[in-house]
Parts: sequence; structure tokens; C-alpha cells
Amino acid sequence: MDLVDIHCHMLWGLDDGCRTPEETVEAARALASLGYTDVAPSPHAQARYAGGDAAASARRLAQARERIAEAGITLRLHGGAENPLDRRYLSLLAAGTPRGLGETQRYALVELPFIDAVPDMVAMLGQILAAGIRPIVAHPERCLEFDQPGRAAEAVRAGAALQLNLGSLTGRHGQLAYELSERFLTEGLYSVAGTDLHGPLEAADWIDEALTALEKRSGAQALRRLCSENPRRALAGDPLL
Ligand SMILES: [Fe+2]
Repeated sequence: MDLVDIHCHMLWGLDDGCRTPEETVEAARALASLGYTDVAPSPHAQARYAGGDAAASARRLAQARERIAEAGITLRLHGGAENPLDRRYLSLLAAGTPRGLGETQRYALVELPFIDAVPDMVAMLGQILAAGIRPIVAHPERCLEFDQPGRAAEAVRAGAALQLNLGSLTGRHGQLAYELSERFLTEGLYSVAGTDLHGPLEAADWIDEALTALEKRSGAQALRRLCSENPRRALAGDPLL
């Protein structure tokens, strides 16, 4: 299957993901071996990381493309970022320089804090939509805000898309993330699944295990929609299925 990943930290030296060019190449090799054809690496767009610098991230993306091509790996890389849903992001939005997905920039990956409450989530998602960008909320199953009954559905009703971390299905992010991912899958709330890969160690193994778990649980059609069709549509700026 021609898989697409819009959430991973494979660009070296930008955040808590890959640390060296060699790790980036190995991560790319792992993804390509699983059938991924396109990846939009999503460095943490936070001031405490080099990934918070859009220009530095763009330069690293170009360098990574070269390294991957030199290694003989066929994997297309696209622009991306994992943006904290906060005032800084909203100010970039207001300034017309938010960091979205791919060439089209019609979608943007945003994340909520893991633990802190975000009472004004719907209003912030609305501001992104009002700017003509559809927010894709990263791994809601990992964020306590979404442990509140109905909160994930509320984000979807507000117009956001939700992104499942594949590793949640195999317990990689703990029991709560596993339980919430099961709940949100049952409720049909996810539009996209991503790896959130941070390094190459055993990557091919755990991602393969998670893809298998998703297919076993939800079927081949759901796997295709979440891991291929919709992430490809998001990159292209097309409506999601
Ligand atoms: Fe991430």
C-alpha cells in the first residue's frame, strides 16, 4: 500500500526526534520498507527547539532530501510542522505565516498539551479554520483534554480533523492513550493516522505491528483511508474522506 505519514520527527537536530543525518536516513529506510511513499516530517514548532525556526527547518528538509536520495531510498519528503495550539501559533496565523502541511498549506498539524486543560480549544480551532486552514489535531488520545466525554467529538464538530498515533494501538503511549484510541476509533472520529516517529530504533518493527493492529481491528478499508488516502489528500489540500 502506498502509505503517507504527515506526523514524524525524522529531520535531525531540530527537536527530540532524530539526532544525526544517519538516523534520518535509517528512519527513512524503515518507512520506505513498510510501503511509505510520502512523508511530511513535522518538527516541533516550539521556541525551545531549533524546529521552532521555520527557515532552519526548511533548510534541514532540503538537506534530508539530498541524504535520502544519496542513500538510494525512494521517499518523497514534504514540508510540515507540529504546532502547539497556543498564542504563538495564533499570532503566526494572524501574521499570515503559519506552518502548514506540504505545498498547499491547506491543513496544519496542531497539538494540545498532554496534561494541561485547554478550555478555549474550540475557539482556537475556529480561528485556524477562519484563516482558511483546516487543523489536524495530533494524537488526541494522548491529551488529557480529550479524556472528557464528548470533547473529541466536539473538536470534530468544530471542523478539526483528528490524527491517531499508530503506536497508541499497541500500547506504546500507555494505557490511557490505548483506551482513548480504541474509543475514538469506535466512534469514527479519526481522519488520519501517523507514526509520530522520533527515531529509527526498531521503527520498522513497531510501525508494522501497529499497522497490522489497525487493520485487524478496523479492516483494510479503514487502514487505507487513515494511512494512505486521507494523509495524501491533506498534502494535496483536498477534502478528507
Ligand atoms: Fe509529534
